[in-house]
Amino acid sequence: SPIHNFLAELPKCEHHLHLEGCLSPALLFQLAAKNNIALPSPEQDAAYQSPATLAKRYEYFENLEDFLQCYYRGIAVLVTEQDFEMLAWEYFTTARRDGVRHAEVFFDPQSHTDRGVAFETVVAGFNAARSRAEKELGVTSCLIMCFLRHLPVSSAAQTMQTAIEGGYFEESRGGDHDGGQQQQQQQRAIAGLGLDSSEVGFRPELFVEQYRKGQELGLHRTAHGGEEGDPTYISGALDTLHVERIDHGIRLTEDAELLQRVVKEGVLLTVCPLSNLCLQAVKSIDQVPIRTFLKAGVKFSINSDDPAYFRGYILNNYCAVQEAFDLSRDEWRIIVENSIHGSWIQEKRKAELL
Ligand code: ADE
Ligand code: ZN
Repeated sequence: SPIHNFLAELPKCEHHLHLEGCLSPALLFQLAAKNNIALPSPEQDAAYQSPATLAKRYEYFENLEDFLQCYYRGIAVLVTEQDFEMLAWEYFTTARRDGVRHAEVFFDPQSHTDRGVAFETVVAGFNAARSRAEKELGVTSCLIMCFLRHLPVSSAAQTMQTAIEGGYFEESRGGDHDGGQQQQQQQRAIAGLGLDSSEVGFRPELFVEQYRKGQELGLHRTAHGGEEGDPTYISGALDTLHVERIDHGIRLTEDAELLQRVVKEGVLLTVCPLSNLCLQAVKSIDQVPIRTFLKAGVKFSINSDDPAYFRGYILNNYCAVQEAFDLSRDEWRIIVENSIHGSWIQEKRKAELL
């Protein structure tokens, strides 16, 4: 249909995407076989018999915690640098098909280092896919390192230390890999900090020291908030972590004063409609506060979160919103412009996308 083509062709920026959330049942089984990783036996968990039974399992999650159990279990099959490259390449090729031109992607280093996989293995694999995506697909990207909020703060501190000592936050001339092509953009291996995993009971304030250090180093900052947690998880992240964005943020509608503050400060929410539906944060897509945000002038982007688990990549999310809200083309242009302006890229790149 014409509106579907219009949505497909919009120059999209994705801001809320967990690379580990792109691990499809097919790739999970493929990597488990290659790396000799034992999957749960039928007695332990009947879902792990085949890619088809696992896909069936992903059709229903009770809540965030129920999903996270599957998510962390799947991660065990990722071992070598090539595994991480393959995973990220699967994301970039699929996202490009959906019209993504720029992606700011999350990864969870602690979910790998806790299993004995080196930080460098993870980042090297992801960065190999990122350079290839820029060169072959024209998709630019940055990497956002997330802390797992259910783990002790000392583990986040250690992760921060590893990244600092490894020079992952240092600026270096980008583009050297593509044959001396002049490129002035200062690139860091890791551009920003994020905060994810179980929300309720794991308050943003716990991570104030890591974010303070990140701000001092000139890193961008975002945090999940207001997905399952009440609006104080959003205000807490703004007040104490000095985040530039809030990931999800749908419960912002419960606090009118905070909503006005978010508008005034131009904070971008990275909304994930299909994720909210799959994790029972909303009963149907029309309960995602898209109209409320548009009317109030809250800036937001539309994203896929964990596409291998939540029924599709970014275009499925755009289409689900269109079906539920019947937005005008001008409304879509506002959403896409806000997501370009809210990206952590130079003005020159923004101008190319607009
Ligand atoms: N990790 C991966 N996806 C997540 C989500 N939607 N919320 C919190 N942590 C996550
Ligand atoms: Zn997320």
